[in-house]
Amino acid sequence: MKTFHIAVIAGDGIGKEVVPEGIRVVDAAGKRFGFRCEWREFDWSCETYERTGKMMPDDGLQQLRPFDAIFLGAVGHPGVPDHVSLWGLLIPIRRAFRQYVNLRPVRLFEGIESPLKRWQAGQIEFAIVRENNEGEYSNIGGRLYEGTDEETVVQQTVFTRRGVNRVLRFAFELARTRNKHLTSATKSNGIIHTMPFWDECFHSMAKDYPDVRVDQYHIDILTAHFVRHPDWFDVVVGSNLFGDILSDLGPAVVGSIGIAPSANLNPDRQFPSMFEPVHGSAPDIAGKGIANPIGQIWSGAMMLRHLNQTEAADAIESAIAAILASCKVRTPDIGGNSGTRDIGEAIALQVGRV
Ligand code: NAI
Ligand code: MG
Repeated sequence: MKTFHIAVIAGDGIGKEVVPEGIRVVDAAGKRFGFRCEWREFDWSCETYERTGKMMPDDGLQQLRPFDAIFLGAVGHPGVPDHVSLWGLLIPIRRAFRQYVNLRPVRLFEGIESPLKRWQAGQIEFAIVRENNEGEYSNIGGRLYEGTDEETVVQQTVFTRRGVNRVLRFAFELARTRNKHLTSATKSNGIIHTMPFWDECFHSMAKDYPDVRVDQYHIDILTAHFVRHPDWFDVVVGSNLFGDILSDLGPAVVGSIGIAPSANLNPDRQFPSMFEPVHGSAPDIAGKGIANPIGQIWSGAMMLRHLNQTEAADAIESAIAAILASCKVRTPDIGGNSGTRDIGEAIALQVGRV
């Protein structure tokens, strides 16, 4: 039987509650479709940081390297600054393993009410491709004359031709498998070096994809279009910062952040990719057993798709849609009173049935 070796980092807060449900559903899919996952847990988190002063051990990346994929919950704990948890764990993994694509599907399900009243299930379905390795999120820069009137702060943005082209290539290829429409986020009117470069790369690559319809918007009006015309989009590609903003706005437009998944992909498959829900550790509801596990479960489906278990991935996504549509079990964030585990069990059962 095909066996996948998966590194599990449940992390903090509700990460520890939703990850077991993700595992439950992926295991149910394995049983149904004939593969097995061997899960190996790593207790790397802010709690570990508070004990040891490190989010992960010095050889953490080497430990993760041999796995087929990484299944992550969420990290973040009040008392540990967010930049410590981010730069101590997530960003090193994304960079060292060249997970240069952050892919986030956005889909309005039956049984979920969009905060935008006029939209119904089936009318909003697009994918956001965020550059995940360079761009605005660089650690090049510094402070001079700290605390004085002359204090000077510089933060560099880094765009490389290779880095821009590879994420654009991924987005064009993805558009080809969908409705053949790709939108690029820019701001070349205000950011006059990097963004015109991004636009040039985009238009130059578009020549290789005459079958893909392309358009581009400045990020400010693009956010407005996400709210006013979410049906306009098929695949949207953006730099690290713009993609980050769009990929929280997209899920917000289709209901709860609790159902949104994401994949940090190394499309070249030289290194493991990492799959995690969009949400964080939600300290406000942690420990209550009411977190929505669907974002984690859907991330599990994205992981199986990456591991070429297409049928299993489809089955999980259909099961999520069926459970949401039936409205029988749902967590408080989407208007129900079921617990985290009830949802995981219901979806696992549904996956076994298809
Ligand atoms: P958050 O996503 O943890 O929570 C935002 C709001 O959404 C909260 O009211 C929370 O209760 C609710 N929520 C989130 N996920 C939910 C779920 N599955 N079911 C039901 N409700 C859910 O974002 P916040 O509060 O800004 O950050 C909390 C901590 O998480 C911080 O330390 C932050 O740095 C970290 N974080 C970590 C991320 C990661 O590990 N990739 C991503 C985002 C935040
Ligand atoms: Mg974000």
